[in-house]
Amino acid sequence: MWRIEGRFSSKRNRVWLMSGFKGEVCVLKVYSKPEAGVEARILSRLGAGGLRVPFVLDQGVNWLRLSYFPGRNLCELWEEAEAGGGDGKELLWPLLDWLKQYHSLDLGGLNDLNWRNFILCNDGKVAGLDFEEEGGGTLLEDLGQILAYAITYDPPFSKWKQNWINWALPAIVEYFNFSFNLNILESNYQKALTGLLKRRSSNSEK
Ligand SMILES: Nc1ncnc2c1ncn2[C@@H]1O[C@H](COP(=O)(O)OP(=O)(O)O)[C@@H](O)[C@H]1O
Ligand SMILES: [Mg+2]
Repeated sequence: MWRIEGRFSSKRNRVWLMSGFKGEVCVLKVYSKPEAGVEARILSRLGAGGLRVPFVLDQGVNWLRLSYFPGRNLCELWEEAEAGGGDGKELLWPLLDWLKQYHSLDLGGLNDLNWRNFILCNDGKVAGLDFEEEGGGTLLEDLGQILAYAITYDPPFSKWKQNWINWALPAIVEYFNFSFNLNILESNYQKALTGLLKRRSSNSEK
């Protein structure tokens, strides 16, 4: 028997934190569409590749029971960094480490790089969540998306965020050992931002 301990915020699905007899915790994700099979398959593939993602403990047609990552959601940390007078720079590196490792598996790009889909674990490493669609795209497109999401969180397009982006663009090029240049990264960022704003204006996705 599992007991509900709390509910995570989710627009598309219903996601709960559950606890068992011995105090063990897990996450129950119930899908609004029958996507459990797709996500379970992607999670197993990523986990087998050594990437930090939830482990599928159990599954049904429209639900998965997943291992829980204690830690903080990266989007919340990002908004808190700005509100609390931090510089937010420390959040970039673990996210890039995760993304770099993901791309070393050569499975294509990700579709959803919302910062809410990353947990900063207590050891300082990032875990990735939420893989309901098969990948496509490139590392540069993913990096563009990370930056595009970053600038749109609350308060969107603030001076603080613009400064952070101006710092992050060359820092990312350096992190990836100059395997691409600043202009290309910047144009991927602009393209991702245009796409994101268009999607947001046509639905209520955050
Ligand atoms: N395994 C997990 N460990 C910790 N938190 C999780 C886990 N799975 C989901 N969450 C939390 O629940 C939220 C929603 O889950 P997610 O898989 O992203 O579903 P959705 O499709 O609704 O975005 C996440 O943003 C995260 O805060
Ligand atoms: Mg999500």
